[in-house]
Amino acid sequence: MNGCLITLEGGEGTGKSSHLEMVRRLVLATGHDVIVTHEPGGTTVAEQLRRIILEPGSEPILPLSEVLLVFAARQQHLQHTLRPALEAGLWVLCDRFIDSTYAYQGGGRGLSRTIIETLEGWTLDGLRPDLTVLFDAPVEVALRRVEHRGGILDRIEREDVAWHERVRRTFLQRAQADPERFLVIDAAGDNAALEASLEALLPPRLAALVREESGHPSP
Ligand code: TMP
Repeated sequence: MNGCLITLEGGEGTGKSSHLEMVRRLVLATGHDVIVTHEPGGTTVAEQLRRIILEPGSEPILPLSEVLLVFAARQQHLQHTLRPALEAGLWVLCDRFIDSTYAYQGGGRGLSRTIIETLEGWTLDGLRPDLTVLFDAPVEVALRRVEHRGGILDRIEREDVAWHERVRRTFLQRAQADPERFLVIDAAGDNAALEASLEALLPPRLAALVREESGHPSP
């Protein structure tokens, strides 16, 4: 695959989606055009599945059903959007991807890692992000932001603090295990602090990707 896959990850209220545009600008500054997409979703069917995954309803969705829905959406997205873009050599910025499944369905729901790894093997077939920017903030800070935002909470936002703590812990464990792929951004402070961190830390990581792409890996 010739393109480059950059993913944004983080718990609810960490500022991930609201800084997507800034990340896009920093990627554009490398001289690459970039396609922006998200999961679950990114195709018509995947968006329908997203609604099922997130809409609160009277019938509980079992953890195994939930992970199958997530991977069904991912398969649609991979085959119709992600793979064709990467095969065409494009850079893709994806708001959430596989690490969210380990964090939410694995950490949050307690689903076994083996199940997720099996489904990952079937669908991703070795594809992995080139860079993952993880927005990290203490759960109480992040959930307060979600509360202030107002609106109806989705099925996942309604989970309790302990659940969100497990999600955060899983993200951080994955980042610690794979520092070459992850860039962790401290999102505990205000927007100005978060933006200053992105501005300082992301461009060098993007420059390394550009060097790798041109066959001149980091010194
Ligand atoms: P978002 O709008 O923040 O991207 O919300 C998507 C929600 O879907 C978020 O609560 C996390 C959840 N999700 C999973 O539970 N598993 C996954 O694999 C993905 C990609 C998202």
